[in-house]
Amino acid sequence: MNDPRLNLEHFWMPFTANRQFKAKPRMLVSAKDMHYMSDDGRQILDGTAGLWCVNAGHGRQEIIDGIKRQLDVLDFAPTFQYGHPGPFIAAEKVAKIAPRGMSHVFFANSGSEAVDSALKIALAYHRARGEGTRTKFIGRERGYHGVGFGGISVGGMVANRKAFGGQLLPAIDHLPHTFNLEHNAFSRGQPKWGAHLADELERLVALHDASNIAAVIVEPVAGSTGVLPPPVGYLEKLRAICDKHGILLIFDEVISGFGRLGTPFAAQYFNVTPDLITCAKGITNATIPMGAVLVRDEIHEAFQHGPEYLLDIYHGYTYSGHPVAAAACIATLDLYENTGLFESSRAMHQHMADGAHSMRELPNVIDVRNIGMVAAIELAPRPGKPTTRAYDFMVRAFEAGLLTRVTGDTIALSPPLIINKPQVEEMFGKIGEILRTLD
Ligand SMILES: Cc1ncc(COP(=O)(O)O)c(C=O)c1O
Repeated sequence: MNDPRLNLEHFWMPFTANRQFKAKPRMLVSAKDMHYMSDDGRQILDGTAGLWCVNAGHGRQEIIDGIKRQLDVLDFAPTFQYGHPGPFIAAEKVAKIAPRGMSHVFFANSGSEAVDSALKIALAYHRARGEGTRTKFIGRERGYHGVGFGGISVGGMVANRKAFGGQLLPAIDHLPHTFNLEHNAFSRGQPKWGAHLADELERLVALHDASNIAAVIVEPVAGSTGVLPPPVGYLEKLRAICDKHGILLIFDEVISGFGRLGTPFAAQYFNVTPDLITCAKGITNATIPMGAVLVRDEIHEAFQHGPEYLLDIYHGYTYSGHPVAAAACIATLDLYENTGLFESSRAMHQHMADGAHSMRELPNVIDVRNIGMVAAIELAPRPGKPTTRAYDFMVRAFEAGLLTRVTGDTIALSPPLIINKPQVEEMFGKIGEILRTLD
């Protein structure tokens, strides 16, 4: 049971129904490999890699050791006008697995910061090239790009925007989302219908004029909005239209980066190379906060002109390239490489897909989507009470020893990439049992 000495009053929990949680907490106290331990001593199978971030599973000794070693040597050193080895080594390792031609890395501390950094790099890039009128960003409905003002402005999740609406960035437009049950329900992998939705970008260009548009930002696979793999041909079209009009394409790979689809980045999975990639989460296996922007070489080059004493970019965080985060990143990327994790995890993709789609006939299931090591089960909302069915599912799953994430009435699954077949079966076995009896 919950430790009665623990005072729950003071921590204002993020993205949480605080009163509901504190009345009946779901408390995790330790973790190893595929499992958490709850405070009442139960093993909880991690169906969500924490929050889509613990890609190599929990408590990996190599990463812990790397972090400890770093703390003994250098706790902090600035990266403004000084340097220390960690972020240089980390950046080289990130660049090694990045899509070709994206070999420059700007470090931040989270996905939200990476997104803001990428948007600012896009603006400053156009300005550096004498195209300073390019200031508008195009996001997408149902997009999630974190919670900075830049991120919620280009993002398209209504609940994350509405309380802050008056102060969102002004020069923003949105592409339509690609969710469509009529055409795409129960698609396996990329849905066949919907590439034409990328043509909406041409309409926005015609409306605003390309000379005013800096960048388009999308998640290659939308995650937080309920797992939406891109329709076949959609990302290719976006790329082509951006190229035609000199618009930068930003892939927000905070979830899809670091092996979620079996490749280092989704860009490689889909064979579409953007101009900027934002990432975070799996970059340190979630041990220490870190985010990053991968920058195409020509974009970085545009900042290398003018007097040498001038700063390249007037942007950075105290902890950009923090020594401990950099050490975590180095150890994590070494672990991914040495264990061949991304490649070996591909063997589970089919089991994930089969497990998810075996839920199809269960009560209230109106869609199942999957790609790589991600799956979603969409439930019909209860009349007049949207989100409560999925929430009740999440509580029941936790009681049954399974960590899941729900968004709206969608159950999202994104286990650590080390999951094995019996664990995939256990996960869907538990989900199926609950769905059979959930009203
Ligand atoms: C695509 C995407 N971008 C940005 C973020 C924000 O990352 P953070 O919570 O680290 O700020 C997330 C978080 O889930 C995300 O999925």
